[in-house]
Amino acid sequence: MIPIKSESEITIMRTACRIAATVLDRLCRLVAPGVNTYDLDQEGRKLLGSYDARSACFGYQVGSKRFPAYTCLSVNDEIVHGIGTLKRVLQDGDIISVDVCVEYQGFIGDNARTVAVGDIAPARQKLLTVTEEALLKGIQQARPGNRVGAISNAVERAVRPFGYGIIRDFVGHGVGRSMHEAPQIPNFGPASRGERLRPGMTLAIEPMIAEGRSQVVMADDGWTALTVDGLPAAHFEHTVLVTGGDPEILTIPDSGI
Ligand code: MF3
Ligand code: CO
Repeated sequence: MIPIKSESEITIMRTACRIAATVLDRLCRLVAPGVNTYDLDQEGRKLLGSYDARSACFGYQVGSKRFPAYTCLSVNDEIVHGIGTLKRVLQDGDIISVDVCVEYQGFIGDNARTVAVGDIAPARQKLLTVTEEALLKGIQQARPGNRVGAISNAVERAVRPFGYGIIRDFVGHGVGRSMHEAPQIPNFGPASRGERLRPGMTLAIEPMIAEGRSQVVMADDGWTALTVDGLPAAHFEHTVLVTGGDPEILTIPDSGI
């Protein structure tokens, strides 16, 4: 069963998501050649603190491992869950997925964006544009009456014409009191699959798309997911509220900051 949020829960979700989006926006503005990903992660930690929020990634436990960073910073062939390090100095032409997942007053807001470092090759820009467009197409299907699969199918259809690899090992997810709630939201598959969507559901929709093959390998750090062929991948994510009508994107930054 996919949890339905009450009005008061949605009110806190809105704030959690606005903080997540504002921090993401500010981190993306700091991305530049010469910046290392450890410093970027530390900026994320400080910004979250300034909003009385905390990272939902830091200490996140899978088996006996705990995620050691405050944000996920994934460069080029790193797809998701990259860990900022002093050694990873961003270079002109890189792309970086910045993923900010926050907890505020017991609720989670989750969003990500892949941005260019300096000037990037047209093929990389195309990958970013198509992946973001696929996210927006998926979001448009987050409406009552549709099943979860309508989102998956819309993402897949937006990406297929370009021949990119759709990552299958990671999926979008329900989000609320926990970072990962029901349902799982794959970025492929038939529209008829999954539960029906209802107002009050909050979903993190997040296409992860590779320029080449869709197979994933894990880095030695035990967290970072990489493309098997070393080609770049893009990742865009919003937290979305299913309403009685059009979907509402909750992870919109506070423009006044
Ligand atoms: N936005 C990521 C997700 O949905 C956050 C992962 S945090 C980590 O999975 F701790 F698992 F890295
Ligand atoms: Co997520």
